[in-house]
Amino acid sequence: MDNYDGFSQNLQSYSKPCPNPYCYNPHCKCGAKCKCTPERPCGCSDTSSSAGLLHESVVAAVEEMRVWVILMAEHAKFIRLGLDPNPDQEHFFRMADQFAIQLEQLHYCIQQTPNTAPTQILINLREQTIQMVNQLIIFKKTLFKLLEECKGLGILPSMLVDHIRREADRFVGTLERSKSKQTKTRNQLGIPNGQILAETVPRNLYHRLSGKQLFKVGIEETAFFSRVHGEHAHHLSMSFRPEVQENYRQQALFFEKEFANHRSQSKEVEKTGTGFEKLVREGIKISCDFNMYLQRVLNDITTCTIPTKQTNFPPLLADHMSRETVYYIDILERLHR
Ligand SMILES: [Fe+2]
Ligand SMILES: [Fe+2]
Repeated sequence: MDNYDGFSQNLQSYSKPCPNPYCYNPHCKCGAKCKCTPERPCGCSDTSSSAGLLHESVVAAVEEMRVWVILMAEHAKFIRLGLDPNPDQEHFFRMADQFAIQLEQLHYCIQQTPNTAPTQILINLREQTIQMVNQLIIFKKTLFKLLEECKGLGILPSMLVDHIRREADRFVGTLERSKSKQTKTRNQLGIPNGQILAETVPRNLYHRLSGKQLFKVGIEETAFFSRVHGEHAHHLSMSFRPEVQENYRQQALFFEKEFANHRSQSKEVEKTGTGFEKLVREGIKISCDFNMYLQRVLNDITTCTIPTKQTNFPPLLADHMSRETVYYIDILERLHR
């Protein structure tokens, strides 16, 4: 029944309004006479279209999970790597390790499950993911507070812990939204106008949105990812080795500025309601350039051609950032159409 409740809200928010609040059929032509119920979908349509829409919503969530569950596992690994290994923090180290193991197993499960699997199997995977990532969010929040208050020690910057918490919140937001629940505020995602509920619509459901909704989605995603990628660039600029890797650092600083501009542009577009296409186009350009830079950094580290052959950050971090950039480019290209 829960799934049907979510499904009902889904259609109400994505499709044309039907005077019957129980109507799940987006193509319903019954008007005021519509008599459908949750148990007996609209008499003027077949039940298969309702089931199809439910399946499409879950698949959209699963497509987000294919990208983000492994990134969540990597977050846990970065935490594990960045904690001071003093005996008092052993339990944090073990918790991070457990998260990494469990999220990797979940990722494996998701990758083994085709989108054509029975809807209920996909729903179960989505619920399992929400539950696990919510636990990870609590862990990240706790750790952030401890690092900020100097009650926890590590080489992991607290800003980065907050960054990966925001990414986890957005990810869970997309999964909840596939059930038509809006659960995250802009504040939780670290973007302007914090009291507003964020859309967090999964990419594969953009085609259901009105132009107005798509505009809001675009503003929120550009605000979110311009900050996220700016922070990636900032972190890299702090992590190249002094003097010997100065060129790499300067380029990281360049991208930090570019994403700061992109962020201001996003604010301006929201305020004026104009320049959306330009915002998206320029977002694609800067993100593609940044991704090429990340790929080059990764190549230079893994082939030991970077001066001193190593960096003060793990190579996987560059790869991780690159995949998040590719994800953002994909979002922008879908908004561009
Ligand atoms: Fe991340
Ligand atoms: Fe990130």
